[in-house]
Amino acid sequence: MSKIILTGDRPTGRLHLGHYVGSLKRRVELQNSGEYDKIFIMIADAQALTDNADNPDKVRENIIEVALDYLSCGLDPAKSTLFIQSQIPELTELSFYYMNLVTVSRLQRNPTVKSEIQMRNFETSIPVGFFTYPISQAADITAFKATTVPVGEDQLPMIEQTREIVRKFNSVYGEALVEPDALIPQNSVCSRLPGTDGKAKMSKSLGNCIYLSDTEEEVRQKVFSMYTDPNHIKVSDPGSLEGNTVFIYLDAFATDEHFVEFLPEYKNLDELKAHYQRGGLGDMKVKRFLDAVLQKELAPIRARRKELEQDIPAIYEILRKGSEVAKQEAAQTLQEVKEAMRINYFDDAELIQAQQLKFNS
Ligand code: TRP
Repeated sequence: MSKIILTGDRPTGRLHLGHYVGSLKRRVELQNSGEYDKIFIMIADAQALTDNADNPDKVRENIIEVALDYLSCGLDPAKSTLFIQSQIPELTELSFYYMNLVTVSRLQRNPTVKSEIQMRNFETSIPVGFFTYPISQAADITAFKATTVPVGEDQLPMIEQTREIVRKFNSVYGEALVEPDALIPQNSVCSRLPGTDGKAKMSKSLGNCIYLSDTEEEVRQKVFSMYTDPNHIKVSDPGSLEGNTVFIYLDAFATDEHFVEFLPEYKNLDELKAHYQRGGLGDMKVKRFLDAVLQKELAPIRARRKELEQDIPAIYEILRKGSEVAKQEAAQTLQEVKEAMRINYFDDAELIQAQQLKFNS
């Protein structure tokens, strides 16, 4: 069986370090591994509208931001198909049929939907489109017969829901769909990178994100004002690593080579951590190290973005071509689905013949 990747992001803002370590970096590695037969990367504008229905311009403006972030991180249109969800109407059609295979109570139990309903104060007035987006996500994944879905941990309930829909579909209508596996980051810190303020998640509305497109100065300022251990006041005080954002980021980003290059007094992160916990290591020194590590990672991405920004029409053209390729794939799957569901009529000569015989007798 072919190995196929599908994944994507909602275009509600520029992408940040949470996206990067949670999924984007891995996608580029998977793309370059050469192990996959097809790779589809989707800008999920239709899904973004499920909770931004009254703000279409936000979604519209951020398509290009997300595309630039993708390309500057190394996603390559020669190897991966980049496309826009709303341009593939087949996805909506698939969703409509999958809706028959999912109960309202099952959707209500989806932990990601549950927490999003709370976060958005939707409790008393949940938009139906939003409520059913896990079904549409199952359509996204199955339309491309994806075997592998690289995502952050928060998306696991979506993949589980997709797998249930696939099993149900295949048992009712016959094997037409492929059951996907999620691929989450190996390093658990990468699954949930906190905001610079120490809050559980980076979120644009909280203003605690470091964006891939931030300038060198913006990154430095954000690192220097990061949340650490509030009880670590004097350099000589013992410091705590628990909830200490700077160390959590180092867990996600720092390698032994970074120590050789930027902080050779320490062999590795364990030594640095031990010194911090003992006392005698100031926050500023650790922050300067984190800044150096992040700048090293982000500098090439930033430079590539600057170049790509010079030709915006070319970026839209990449998305247009990708959307055409994606549409063909999805149309093929939709046809198979309709056959399996017995809702193909005009291409079925046997059906027409049999119906004629019935009326002749
Ligand atoms: N739900 C994902 C997010 O919020 C975006 C998304 C939409 C997606 N469809 C998908 C991710 C299919 C993986 C597979 O970021």
